[in-house]
Order: sequence, then structure tokens, then C-alpha cells
Amino acid sequence: MDSSPPCFRGYGTRFVLPCVLVPLVLVSCCSSLLIPTAPPPGSLPSPFSLPLHGGGDAHRERIWSLREVSEHRFSLDRSGHTSDVYVPPVAAPSPAQGSAILLFEHNTTEDLIPLPRGRRKRYTKLQRLELGLGGARAAIKKAFRNAGNRTALPDKDYVPQGPLYRNAYAFHRSYLEMERLFKVYVYEEGEPPLFHDGPCRSIYSSEGRFINSMEMDSWYRTRNPDLAHVFFLPFSVAKMVKFIYKPESFDISPIKKTIADYIDVVAERYPYWNRSLGADHFMLSCHDWGPHSSKAVPNLYGNSIRVLCNANTSEGFDPSKDVSLPEINIKTDVMADMMGGPSASHRPILAFFAGGDHGPVRPLLLEAWKDKDPDVQVHEYLPKGVSYYDTMRKSKYCLCPSGYEVASPRIVEAIYLGCVPVTINDHYVLPFNDVLDWKAFSVQVSVEDIPNIKKILMGISPTQYIRLQRRGAMVQRHFVVNSPPRRFDVFHMILHSIWLRRLNIRMHRPQVSD
Ligand SMILES: *[C@@H]1O[C@H](CO)[C@@H](O)[C@H](O)[C@H]1NC(C)=O
Ligand SMILES: *[C@@H]1O[C@H](CO)[C@@H](O)[C@H](O)[C@H]1NC(C)=O
Ligand SMILES: *[C@@H]1O[C@H](CO)[C@@H](O)[C@H](O)[C@H]1NC(C)=O
Ligand SMILES: *[C@@H]1O[C@H](CO)[C@@H](O)[C@H](O)[C@H]1NC(C)=O
Repeated sequence: MDSSPPCFRGYGTRFVLPCVLVPLVLVSCCSSLLIPTAPPPGSLPSPFSLPLHGGGDAHRERIWSLREVSEHRFSLDRSGHTSDVYVPPVAAPSPAQGSAILLFEHNTTEDLIPLPRGRRKRYTKLQRLELGLGGARAAIKKAFRNAGNRTALPDKDYVPQGPLYRNAYAFHRSYLEMERLFKVYVYEEGEPPLFHDGPCRSIYSSEGRFINSMEMDSWYRTRNPDLAHVFFLPFSVAKMVKFIYKPESFDISPIKKTIADYIDVVAERYPYWNRSLGADHFMLSCHDWGPHSSKAVPNLYGNSIRVLCNANTSEGFDPSKDVSLPEINIKTDVMADMMGGPSASHRPILAFFAGGDHGPVRPLLLEAWKDKDPDVQVHEYLPKGVSYYDTMRKSKYCLCPSGYEVASPRIVEAIYLGCVPVTINDHYVLPFNDVLDWKAFSVQVSVEDIPNIKKILMGISPTQYIRLQRRGAMVQRHFVVNSPPRRFDVFHMILHSIWLRRLNIRMHRPQVSD
């Protein structure tokens, strides 16, 4: 049956030391934040207070939000870089694409929630965690405000800068805060292959690679759930489809039941699910059915952070709460084979696509361009003897339409091979969209503009093209899969997206008790 090899072999016993260090780090950073003044936690004024449906014993509130913004806001957020912003000549991205950006909705003094004076009570564990997050939030907000006036933060391997980022400085601050603070608890219940495992060499490999890296992680993973900011539900929808779905039945209820049972188990054994009704929990799936499977439990669908390749805003994907997971089709462990390509002058083909005629977008692309124009090479099947990757390497632009679902592995393939991605979709939220400015290294074409693709791409000057391609090479690091993971790579970008969503909520108990 499942013949795919495990993602990573032979690095098993690395988590011992950091488990000892974690409590020290947390206690010391939080104790510096204990500044008692102002109102008690229960009476926190909050315009964003959202009591969760079903009523848990903790409240979640939105404090800041990753809010949808329209195009013209970009220049505000990237002060100093406006001259370098690339604006595609014709294709305007549809506002419905749900571009999310870190935006600070209201200034809070309540980032630090002190205890009432005179009470000799200690902070609860939850309060201590929230105090730490409050400090991180304040630091990121400050970085955001000072983005135009700063010296780069010190970093031993990489300093994000330039127009790839919506706000490079705030991103770097946020990344460093994540490294300093963020802890993830991985529930240990469940057996492989449905849990703690996932495909590592297929179109769904993002699922298996993340689950495996998270399991192996020695820095962010904590074995003490009281120290965790988020809780990972390590199930694999792709493995469930493989092992418990009856082929051709189109009945995914066995998958939903497995997920619902799993959540019952962890909600019964631990206090954490009921405490937040899932708001500080996350699931991850690259399978097309990930979103639908999450409907198994209303609070998983409605409250939890869902990390999904199929990030379709028309099917309940909420960019302020959910994370768009890049789809990466890994066929080999030698990533170098998937990387690199020649410069623009060695790319004779203007645009290229080859792929099956399915989903809502591709029929339109094939109808408009299949076998019509040698500059825009659109194939349903590649001619015999023609290599897919080599043709991408010979093309300036690689067309990446949605398929059965919104995401396309072509986007990351194009980034790897030095081909500028042209995304064609509706209702898709691009990965890491809150940090990366996709317009700096890709072209977005709306579905209605498919007939104008050639005109749009010809309208991009050679200088602009070289800029797009160069930035594409720079952004590669954020999409590269390493085993074990390295800083700023795809594993850490996914984790950072989760970190931002966790910062987006605050939990507190109505009564001070623990
Ligand atoms: C937030 O702070 C800025 C500057 O400090 C101020 O201009 C703005 O009015 C404040 N917004 C709110 C909602 O208090
Ligand atoms: C920029 O930074 C300098 C030095 O920290 C400070 O004196 C100045 O007020 C800052 N300017 C702005 C606009 O924030
Ligand atoms: C969480 O809530 C469920 C359903 O209300 C309940 O069955 C379970 O015992 C609760 N878990 C804990 C740890 O109290
Ligand atoms: C996104 O969701 C909508 C609503 O269900 C659906 O019509 C559309 O086909 C989906 N997009 C893709 C590419 O699957």
C-alpha cells in the first residue's frame, strides 16, 4: 500500500536539551513584563471581544487583525520603496483575492494585562503566556511604525529587506520574536499513518513534510502543554484518504468521523481544547479535501487555525484566521534537481503551461491558448520527448492556473526554476501573503483576463522582467524544503504564519483562577 519512504531518516533524539531550556526562557522574559497598574483581566475593555459560540471557559478576542486591504495601501506600508513597486500594466488583481496584511487596528495599552493591585496572587500560566505575547505584539507594532526609520536588526544568517516584503523590518522583528517565544505542543495521541505522518513525495508533500518537521523539531516544540501558545492536531487528511476512504464512494464521512473522534479524545484528556474551543489549535492539510474535512467539528472549522493548500475564500477560508500552505510537488530528495535556471536571454518561450483540463479555470485557458501561439505555449499534454522542467527553464513566464482546487504546485516550481509565475485564479489567497508582496516577483492575471495574457506579458518591459526574475531568486529561500529545516525556509514561514494568527487572538479567563 503506502510505499513512500519516511520524510527524514536518522535524526531522532534531538529534543532533550531545549525542553530544559524552555521554562527558563519563558519565565525570565515574562517576569520582566510584570508591571502592575490598571484594570483586572476580567474587565478588559475590548471592542473586539468575541465570546465563542458554545461558550468555553476562556474568552478569545481579536486584538489586531490581518485585515484585507486594497492595493493603494501597499505604498503606505512600504514607505521608502514606492519607486520600486512593480505595477502590472493591465491585470489588476481582483480585490476578492483576500490579500491580508499585518495591520494594527487599535492602539492598545492593554497589551500588558496586569493583575489588580493589592492581590497577592500569582499570574496564571495562561496569563503569563499572554503577557509574553503582548510584549511581542508591542515590539512588532513598534517595528511597523518605525519601518521607514531604522537600522537593520542583527541576524546571523539573513536580514529580510527590499521590495519582496510588505514590510521587511516588521517581518524580521516578528520572526525574531517568534524565535524567542513561540512554543507549539503536538498532541501525542494517535498512531501513524493517519497521525504523526503524511505524504512526503507527492503533490501533497507539504502535509507530510510539515508534520514530520514539527514532530522532529527541537526548538519550537514543547513537551509541556502549559507552556504552549498553540496546539497542533497532527492528523493527515491525505493519509486518511489513502487508508480509510473508499475509492469512488465520494463519501468522506469516515474521515470526518476520525477527526471528530480525535478531537473528542484530546478535549476529554486535556483542558486546552475546551478552554479556547479550539482557537489556539491548528490543523494542517494539503489535500483538496482538507477544508471539507475540517467541517467535522464546527469549532475546528470556525475557530481553529486551519493551514490549507486549498485556501479558497469562497469555501470558508478566512485569511485572518487560516493560513495558506504552499503546494510543493516533491518527487525527489535531491532538491538541487528542482532548482535553478538560466537568465532571461536564454528563455526563448514567452509563456508556458502543460496540465490536465480540470477545475473551473483551466478549460478557459486551454480554450483561449491551446496550440494557438508559439509564444504562449499551452498544452494539455506535453509532446513526446519534451521535458516539463526543461520547458519551464526555457520559459520567461510560467502560467499557474488553479486546477481541481485553488492552489497550484506550479507556483513554487516556477520560483525554483527561475521562471516568473503568472497566477490565474479566483478566491485564492497566496501563501505568506501577509509578509510577501507577490507583485514584486510574480504576475497576477484575473480569470477574465485569460484572453489578454500575451498582451499583458508583452507589456512588461525587459528591465521589469529582470527585476521580477531576480526577486524570484531572492524569494526562493522562503519556499525551499530543508531536512532538517533551516531558518526562514518554508517550514519556518508556515510556522511564522501560524504565529501571526496566534498573535491575532488573546485568551483570558472571565474569573481569575487556574
Ligand atoms: C493610534 O495611535 C496613533 C498615533 O500614536 C493615533 O494617531 C491614532 O489616532 C490612534 N488610534 C486609536 C484608535 O487610538
Ligand atoms: C528616527 O530615529 C531617530 C534616532 O532613533 C530619532 O531621533 C527620530 O526621531 C526618528 N524619526 C522618526 C520620524 O521616527
Ligand atoms: C470538554 O467538553 C466536553 C464536551 O462538553 C466534555 O465531554 C469533556 O469532558 C470536557 N473536557 C474536560 C477536560 O473537561
Ligand atoms: C472555490 O470555491 C468556489 C465555491 O465553492 C467554487 O465554485 C470554485 O470552483 C472553487 N475554486 C476552485 C479552483 O476549486
